[in-house]
Amino acid sequence: MARGAERAFVTDAGLQRLRSAFKAVWWTTTGVAARGVADPERSRAFQFETPPPPRGAQRHGWMEAFRKDIEDVGAGLYPASEPLFADPVEALRAVSDFLRDAREVEARRRRNGGVEARAEEGADVYPAYYRQNFHYQSGGWFTRDSARRYEPQVEALFSGTAGAMRRRALSLLARAWRSRDQRGLKVVDLACGSGAFLRDLKGAFPRATVMGLDLSPAYTLEAKAMAEAPVIQANIERLPFADASLDGATCVYLFHELPPRLRPEIAAEIARVLKPGGVLALADSVQPADQPDLARLLEAFPAFFHEPYYESWCREDVPGLFGLAGLELVETDVAFLTKAWLFRKREVKRSGAS
Ligand SMILES: C[S@@+](CC[C@H](N)C(=O)[O-])C[C@H]1O[C@@H](n2cnc3c(N)ncnc32)[C@H](O)[C@@H]1O
Repeated sequence: MARGAERAFVTDAGLQRLRSAFKAVWWTTTGVAARGVADPERSRAFQFETPPPPRGAQRHGWMEAFRKDIEDVGAGLYPASEPLFADPVEALRAVSDFLRDAREVEARRRRNGGVEARAEEGADVYPAYYRQNFHYQSGGWFTRDSARRYEPQVEALFSGTAGAMRRRALSLLARAWRSRDQRGLKVVDLACGSGAFLRDLKGAFPRATVMGLDLSPAYTLEAKAMAEAPVIQANIERLPFADASLDGATCVYLFHELPPRLRPEIAAEIARVLKPGGVLALADSVQPADQPDLARLLEAFPAFFHEPYYESWCREDVPGLFGLAGLELVETDVAFLTKAWLFRKREVKRSGAS
């Protein structure tokens, strides 16, 4: 029995190692090809204040993200993920579409077209902060093509580590729920985008009720298909859940794209729907203090991608933000350019009998 379990442990970690190696090569090559096709403007007059990363620091951070992910799979926290060969034709189609679009993204970057998404059909009913071409991506959050292209764009940007970095949040949640009976647990991936993390969440907690939520109808459809899970189209500012109705929430790469004035309101809204003792696993960009050697990359990000609220995110007091909403920091983890935080909603103290 013990030997069998040991074999499964080795096999799964081995499988994840293989997949990580494949992803590293696939998405690094795709990123290089995209830069070749788009010929990004490098001469933009930009005076960096931070020094370039010390030799090897970027590679070290990148490899660490894969290493932590493989270790967590080996430890049985979540299953090996992202089967790459499931549909090779589709994988090639997605890459060629991404490469074709890379020139348009570069043209938008050069003309500083960060708000062109306002002209998309139906966009006028969404909040102004939402009607932007974050990362200069074609269609903003409004088109099905954008939703299909999102995951290749993110993976190429991070040379294949996006999934592994996001799963730092899954790692914290899986540790917190290790001894819990999953049946009856209800967890929502907020701002689930096109569904990659939602798929991982569902894989890690197959007996729980797992769903996604996103404001974009196009991304909602894509996430449903990718994760094969229910996805609600709604604004995180007004969550369609009753008070204290969820055991867990996850939220990945949203907060750096929110205007700073909205962050406290949204933190309070998430706290509202969590049960006392319920948890929020958050993942977002690291801040300069988390990865001082990589500070140049963080400085370059909003300069070369359309990220209007990123600088304020780099200064955000994250434990303070959620602490004010009644969520206490339990644990954090960092991998390459992503940090994960686990927060727990304070239990209601019962007053003693009088
Ligand atoms: C950078 S993407 C992150 C997607 C995904 N969580 C991931 O890990 O890649 C931001 C997502 O947040 C969604 N979003 C932004 N503002 C929102 C809001 N007010 N309510 C719900 N979703 C929102 C967008 O539609 C988009 O899918």
